[in-house]
Amino acid sequence: MRQNAAGGLLLYGPPGCGKTFIARALAGELGAKFLSIGITDVLDPHFGQSERNLHEAFQLARREAPCVLFFDEVDALGGRRSQTSTSMMRTAVNQLLTELDGVGADNEGVFVLGATNQPWDIDPALRRPGRFDRTVLVLPPDAEARAAIFTFHLRSRPTGAIDIAALARATEGLSGADIALVCETATETAMMDGVTSGVVRDIQHDDLLSALEQAHPTVSAWLDSARNVVLFGDDDGTYKELRRYLKKVKRL
Ligand SMILES: Nc1ncnc2c1ncn2[C@@H]1O[C@H](COP(=O)(O)OP(=O)(O)O)[C@@H](O)[C@H]1O
Ligand SMILES: [Mg+2]
Repeated sequence: MRQNAAGGLLLYGPPGCGKTFIARALAGELGAKFLSIGITDVLDPHFGQSERNLHEAFQLARREAPCVLFFDEVDALGGRRSQTSTSMMRTAVNQLLTELDGVGADNEGVFVLGATNQPWDIDPALRRPGRFDRTVLVLPPDAEARAAIFTFHLRSRPTGAIDIAALARATEGLSGADIALVCETATETAMMDGVTSGVVRDIQHDDLLSALEQAHPTVSAWLDSARNVVLFGDDDGTYKELRRYLKKVKRL
């Protein structure tokens, strides 16, 4: 683990593809506690309260070290899409920078992770060296990962014969969250059938196929906005990985 929390890692990518999931798993791998902070929970219009909230989050993490301090929706601090006043954002960002730099405090054993669907909305001050300077793109699951996600979400549910490999093949472009919803919907269908017929039955492959028909790939809209950023935004090398992926899926 790093000596200093300065230099956090930023996970970014389409919604529902496992950023939060990975952050939590990473904490487990490191044998560290996991402390998750939603930026929108931290922000408070009362004077000085956002800064206090941030300070307390870091203090807690320092006490609990080794600890992964996870900031979800860091883009909410960017100010671009929020109604909150810019001066409030400014002070909150400054406080976060102070805490990250470990000014007057010991950040040893505090590993800072951030996550966002919109890295392009993040306050540039937060992206400078020593801050959230390294980015990791969390991509939609490939067929193998989709199979694992189906297995995971059906693991404790009563199922008949299910062809997981076929489901994985049929769900190209769906996120982990989309797949979780498909499993949820199929479970409800089987349950409702049981209620109406009076005979309890397992979840069948066909239930999952019908649920699939109602699924809307949520990743597609994200890819469109990502494409615009890559095409029309400044290219300082941040989105190299994203650019490569967009080319691969023929969006660029
Ligand atoms: N690798 C994965 N394995 C199992 N489930 C996953 C995986 N990735 C995503 N999911 C499912 O999708 C949901 C959303 O994932 P999440 O990590 O919250 O996405 P994000 O933070 O990127 O929006 C999770 O609650 C989980 O049900
Ligand atoms: Mg998340």
